[in-house]
Parts: sequence; C-alpha cells; structure tokens
Amino acid sequence: MSTDIKIRRIDHVRFFVGNARQSAYFYRNAFGFDVVAYAGLETKVRHEAGYVLRQGEITFVLASPLGKEHPDSQRLILHGDGVQDIALEVDDVEAAYQTAVSRGAAGVREPQILEDQFGVLRIATIRTYGDTLHSFVNRDNYHGVFAPGYLPIDPERYNPATFHPVGLAAIDHIVGNVEEGKMNEWVDFYKRVLGFEQLIHFDDKDISTEYSALMSKVVQNATGRIKFPLNEPARGRRRSQIEEYLQFYGGPGVQHIALLTGDIINTVSAMRKNDVSFLRVPRAYYDMLPERVGAIQEDIEALADLGILVDRDDEGYMLQIFTKPVCDRPTLFFEVIQRRGSRSFGKGNFKALFEAIEREQAVRGTL
Ligand code: FE2
Repeated sequence: MSTDIKIRRIDHVRFFVGNARQSAYFYRNAFGFDVVAYAGLETKVRHEAGYVLRQGEITFVLASPLGKEHPDSQRLILHGDGVQDIALEVDDVEAAYQTAVSRGAAGVREPQILEDQFGVLRIATIRTYGDTLHSFVNRDNYHGVFAPGYLPIDPERYNPATFHPVGLAAIDHIVGNVEEGKMNEWVDFYKRVLGFEQLIHFDDKDISTEYSALMSKVVQNATGRIKFPLNEPARGRRRSQIEEYLQFYGGPGVQHIALLTGDIINTVSAMRKNDVSFLRVPRAYYDMLPERVGAIQEDIEALADLGILVDRDDEGYMLQIFTKPVCDRPTLFFEVIQRRGSRSFGKGNFKALFEAIEREQAVRGTL
C-alpha cells in the first residue's frame, strides 16, 4: 500500500505545566531558548496561556490552564508538569489521521482547520503511550508566528541583552517510559500505525544488566530523522529508575528529550553557567575513557570538568550528558548530545549513568 503516512519532522513538543509564564523563564534563561510567541487572554484565548520557545530547529510550547474547566487541567494533578504532545509535521493531516485511526490508533481530535489572518493551519491528534499525544500538523499555508491564537511576544517582555542561546540545534530523540511488559506493544504501535521501523544496531542485545534494570528498543521514521526509544522496567538489583518515573508521573510518559548540539563543550559550559544541574559520574570514568573509546577530538580534561560522557560504536563516537529532572517529581529530564559519526544512544555509558541515577534515587529514598 502506498498509504504510508508522510512524516516530515517533529513540529513542536507541547508541555502542559502549572505555570507556563515561569517555565518560559526557566527554558529561556537556563536552556537558552528564545520566547517568540504568546497566547492568552490578551490574544483572546480564554482557556489557557501558551508560550512558544525556539532554539535552532527546536520548538517547545508551554501551556497552562486558566481555570479548572480546561479539559486537561486534571493532568497537572496526575502527572505534574510534563510532555503532553509530540506534534509531527505531515504532508497531509486528513490522510495521516484517517490512516492512523484505521490502523488502530485512538483518535483524540478529528482533523481541524485553524484559521486567522496569517492563513490556515491543519491539525489532528491521536493518542500514544499513557496520556501522551501525537498531533499531525501541516503549516504549508500558514505564515503566522506559530498558530492561530498566538501572537509575537510583546518586545517589552524580554530584554534582548539577557537572551543567550546555548547552541541547541535540533531534537535528536525523545524517549518514552512504558509499563513493564508493554514495550513491544508500543514498538508495534509505531511500526503498524505510523510506519516506523525498529532500529537494530550491531551491538543490539539484551541491555538489562544488574545495573540497568530496563529494557529499551528504538523506533524511527522512514527518513531516520525522528527517533523514539521506548523503555520498560526490568527486574534488577534495585528498584529501577523507570519504576520510579512511572510512580511519580502516574503512568507512562516522556522520560527525556535529547537535544543535539554541534559543540557540546560550549553548550554544556553555558548551561552550567545558567545553573542547569547535570548528573555526574565518578572521576574513574575519565581515567578509563581513552582505553574504552580510543582517540577523540575533545580534551578529556574539559569533558571531565563538565561531566560529559563519551561512547563509541563502529560508525564513530558520540558525546552526551543528562540533566537532573527539571521538575520536583523525578520525571522529565533532558539530554544534550553531540554526534561524531555514531548514530546510537550511549549504551556504553549505561552502567556509569545508572549508578549515578541510583545515587540520586538513594537520596530520594526511592531505590
Ligand atoms: Fe537519550
């Protein structure tokens, strides 16, 4: 069948949060995003406030309800702040929605046309794991700043002198945590409903070790541009970080978003100056690094100072670092990643990382 859904890219990630106005300051001042558009009472939107943030090709939308009658207000009690929608730009919203629903996806919003003086935006929405959504978006005939209801941010709101991008360029991958025993179901969902393929690496084997206590598989779209790893808890020595997430998020959801940079040393230096908290591995990790990954272009001392991790596969290497959770609940966090040939996800770092996460869990009393 030639009915495959033509997905171009991740259009935006929508976060549903308790206080979008304050979250916008966090992502601007800590993560270096520009705040470009706003929706709310002043733009004649009565039910929610929304802020559109941009850096490189990344668009985040932060939304908060303006009253308890907002249809999503209960999700704040259940989940806390988190990712509500990974919106996908498609060639044809109507076809994408009808195809996905005919293949078994749950429809949440039928195809809609949103219109204002800047044109026509098409959107429809299906459900994926937990309360997480995929909207299909097409903005070919829309020329406004984001969507009807949104207007460019009032230039008096943010001082250009206090805006400092940190070099985040694109979304590399978005990871979902699902319940024990459900990973394969969701891998099948992405293959069957959205036409994704499962990514198998040369080194792909059971990664459940005594440390990791998780199972993970990766699906990607036809172009390889969109990658969604899916985790489920596995039985390990300790209570797994995935179980901790599921408990505090109140079910499956987005665990982390990996943001691509072309210069991880500069990006992480800037984010550390902005008081972003990252996980740290012991110094011994860097003593063993040359032997484990061979020659790399970066200065190992600089990586050790910043806490950046390195992993190599047969295509090259990659550098990565993980923030601590960005909410009070131990749920959503971010990864910063730079790729030098490698297309994998840092499996060689799992042991050191999981031990670092377990130290944090011990402090939280959730191990
Ligand atoms: Fe990742």
